Amino acid sequence: MNIIAGGSPEAWADAVAERFIAALQARPALRVCLPTGLTPVPIYDRVAAAVAGGRISFARAEIILLDEFGGVDATDPGRCDRMLERYLLSRADLPPGRFHAFDLTRDLDEVCRQHEAVVGAGCDLALLGVGTNGHVGMNEPGSSRDSLTRRVDLAPATVTASARYFSHDRLPTWGVTMGLSTLRRSGEVWILASGPAKAAIMREVVHGPVTESVPATQFRDHPRTFLIVDEAAAVEL
Ligand code: PGA
Repeated sequence: MNIIAGGSPEAWADAVAERFIAALQARPALRVCLPTGLTPVPIYDRVAAAVAGGRISFARAEIILLDEFGGVDATDPGRCDRMLERYLLSRADLPPGRFHAFDLTRDLDEVCRQHEAVVGAGCDLALLGVGTNGHVGMNEPGSSRDSLTRRVDLAPATVTASARYFSHDRLPTWGVTMGLSTLRRSGEVWILASGPAKAAIMREVVHGPVTESVPATQFRDHPRTFLIVDEAAAVEL
């Protein structure tokens, strides 16, 4: 695993955003898996500013959503697709039809099969946050290295943590997520973490055993995985 560590939260967000901008400039038809949650928000702000400033365009890109909460209204602002819309898509020039989200009103197996078909041989790039239990996407501890896009139950800690996305207390207990195998097919993976709450799990991801108990460790042997963490998240590395 390649490690890029250090800097204030602002310097970290600048660095990740510039890396993303360079990736899109180098490959305008980039097929990228994007996460939601709070981690990428400052990065998306900077990427949106680069679109507004004419430095990059999503006109030829394709965005594949990492995961989605189940059992919440289609318009709930805490849904992953709504969050990505708010933080990035509403300010990017992505053509209609180039955002692949999850329509959970349809047959779930079919929705997951379709998402796998969209990913195909793999995304060019996948950005991932990490939960404090080591989950990536909604691949909770115990997820198989061979897992594909599927319905999953959320770990109790993840349900509790999701409260920060929702303005009500009907928190989701399940979701759909790209699998570890789906994500490991990506040409490049960036595991992103910012802030002191992620320091302990970063130590596990880098120095602990590769284990299904800590899903993010399954990227340790992926040759083009970059762990990009700010100073506070890196203190135990
Ligand atoms: P966060 O969530 O970015 O809101 O910290 C990360 C995750 O749980 O995957």
